[in-house]
Amino acid sequence: MADDSASLERKLEVVEAELRQARRMASLGELVSTTTHEFNNVLTTIINYAKLGMRHKDEPSRDKAFTKILAAANRAEKITNGVLGIARNRGHERVATDLAKLIDSSLVLLEREMQKYRILMEVQFEPAPPALVAGNEIQQVLLNLLTNARQAMPRGGRILIRVAHDPVANTVDLTVRDSGNGIPPEALPKIFDRYYTTKAGPDASGKGGTGVGLAACREIIEAHQGRIRVESTVGVGTAFTLKLPVAKVEEPAASLPIATLGIPTVGAGQSR
Ligand SMILES: Nc1ncnc2c1ncn2[C@@H]1O[C@H](COP(=O)(O)OP(=O)(O)OP(=O)(O)O)[C@@H](O)[C@H]1O
Ligand SMILES: [Mg+2]
Repeated sequence: MADDSASLERKLEVVEAELRQARRMASLGELVSTTTHEFNNVLTTIINYAKLGMRHKDEPSRDKAFTKILAAANRAEKITNGVLGIARNRGHERVATDLAKLIDSSLVLLEREMQKYRILMEVQFEPAPPALVAGNEIQQVLLNLLTNARQAMPRGGRILIRVAHDPVANTVDLTVRDSGNGIPPEALPKIFDRYYTTKAGPDASGKGGTGVGLAACREIIEAHQGRIRVESTVGVGTAFTLKLPVAKVEEPAASLPIATLGIPTVGAGQSR
């Protein structure tokens, strides 16, 4: 009997690992199709303004065309960097990571979806040191939180993503705050339970309803020796905060001049 339940548990673990892998593949597939779409839009802008610049030879028109082309090209660069970052970042190794950059490159791929659901996205990056994380895992958590936030706002709303340093806990804190329908206090203790869901099934974008999103988030954050916290008020909104360990910056030995070590100086943080 004990053997049976042990083997059942092992099978369940295998199924869950496969489910996690399937979710990762699904979000990767979705990312590829969003990126292609986004890229096409950028190209259309570039082509149209190039044509405009060719037709109108006067300086203001050409300036305008070049400005638009440059903006579109910058956006294209962001998109490719985002995708390259994800592709490069498939490992599970934890390295010093600039969370603001990670968020920027993830959001560029979600802009269209959020626009479709009339959701305004805002970011607030306070000066913060790099966090010691596996980038793709934190990105996975971020995407899960953003999908939940979006699904809590069926009539649209706002999402604020904030990065800040907590010098007392020595963590980098990533908060995703939404203006959605909130979570009643009696449900709060259950939301991280595997298979707990209040959703009837997948939404129009084919997302949601299995109840594994937050369980996976918690698993990832705990493996990082971090913490995940939630605050919610029904009718006002919900905020999830990830508290992630700060990556220790190697200090050059005090007796050696920095130049001889050839180590780029790393600031305590940066603001944008
Ligand atoms: N931002 C949020 N606002 C309101 N409720 C939320 C929010 N995030 C999570 N919840 C609640 O917690 C439940 C569990 O979330 P979780 O992400 O684990 O599963 P799910 O979104 O229902 O399904 P899945 O993520 O597997 O597609 C949700 O069904 C919802 O009731
Ligand atoms: Mg979810």
